[in-house]
Amino acid sequence: MRILVSGASGLLGSNLALEAASQHTVFGITHHHSLHTTAFSVQQTDLLNPGSLENLLDNIQPDWVIHCAAQANVDACEKDPNLAYQLNVELPQRLAASVGRSGARLLHVSTDAVFDGVRGNYSESDTPNPLSVYARTKWLAEERVLEANPAALVVRVNLFGWSTTGKRSLAEFFYNNLLQGHSVNGFQDVYFCPLLVTDLAQLFLSMLEKRLSGLYHAFSRTSASKYEFGLAVARRFNLDASLISPVSISQASLAAVRSPNLTMRTDKLAQALGLPLPSWQEGLEKLYLQHQVGYAARLRSLISVAPGN
Ligand SMILES: NC(=O)c1ccc[n+]([C@@H]2O[C@H](COP(=O)([O-])OP(=O)(O)OC[C@H]3O[C@@H](n4cnc5c(N)ncnc54)[C@H](OP(=O)(O)O)[C@@H]3O)[C@@H](O)[C@H]2O)c1
Repeated sequence: MRILVSGASGLLGSNLALEAASQHTVFGITHHHSLHTTAFSVQQTDLLNPGSLENLLDNIQPDWVIHCAAQANVDACEKDPNLAYQLNVELPQRLAASVGRSGARLLHVSTDAVFDGVRGNYSESDTPNPLSVYARTKWLAEERVLEANPAALVVRVNLFGWSTTGKRSLAEFFYNNLLQGHSVNGFQDVYFCPLLVTDLAQLFLSMLEKRLSGLYHAFSRTSASKYEFGLAVARRFNLDASLISPVSISQASLAAVRSPNLTMRTDKLAQALGLPLPSWQEGLEKLYLQHQVGYAARLRSLISVAPGN
């Protein structure tokens, strides 16, 4: 297959492009960053520029488009809601329509943050109640994408892993700080179900192969508080877990409101694929092995910032 991956310099897109490139022909799209790799082709473009999306689709003629580009920084979305709307709503809406016309298949990435996190254990049929600009834009995009392209896949995710910048995921936050002997806080009242990004990438490829469409949850089948997750990272990497203090999210001063209980149901996807989804604990084992075989360092060596950015 010819696969176009937007956001290929980001946490999800870079890992996904590398995973997919072992079986497929991958075209990664980046914006401010350039990537140096022979594993897949890379093009740098601002997807908000008029015509850039359409040109890419015309030139690449992909079979599958996996849209990972976004303003995924929750606090940055509060500071610039207009840019968040353009990137997180208008861009995927236009993409969904264009991909639909081209006959290719689209996988659009969404988030657990569409829920308010009051109740937890959310399924695809529960009604979201977004609490932040980021969450509102991501929910709106889910609806606009499926309106524009009913055959599209919209997948809500939460993830951890190694990133090209070395600081995009919560696992990296704990790993980097503890390695340097820095004390950090871990929220003991915020629950999530993150998947290792490379496990998530394999799920995306299976979902596209199975020709699934509509809304799906792709999360760890097990949950943890962010504090518990930090302790597990510390233990697996043999770092000092006592440097992590259990705190309440109410003690943090963050620009965007966070949803406390983002435990998620994954039965719909497990049934569609005929397999239980991986757990974050299994993912953490792989994260450790990836580090041991130099995968984290390899990812970091791929990236450079384009001049002027
Ligand atoms: N990270 C998480 O924990 C998490 C949790 C839930 C859902 N998600 C969702 O997963 C998806 C991927 O997130 P991520 O964490 O991988 O994001 P990320 O690391 O912040 O990467 C964002 C990507 O978007 C690209 N991009 C931004 N503006 C662009 C533009 N105007 N034109 C072209 N490309 C542009 C960036 O390119 P440059 O860097 O080259 O500028 C980068 O490759 C998003 O939809 C996000 O909402 C993420």
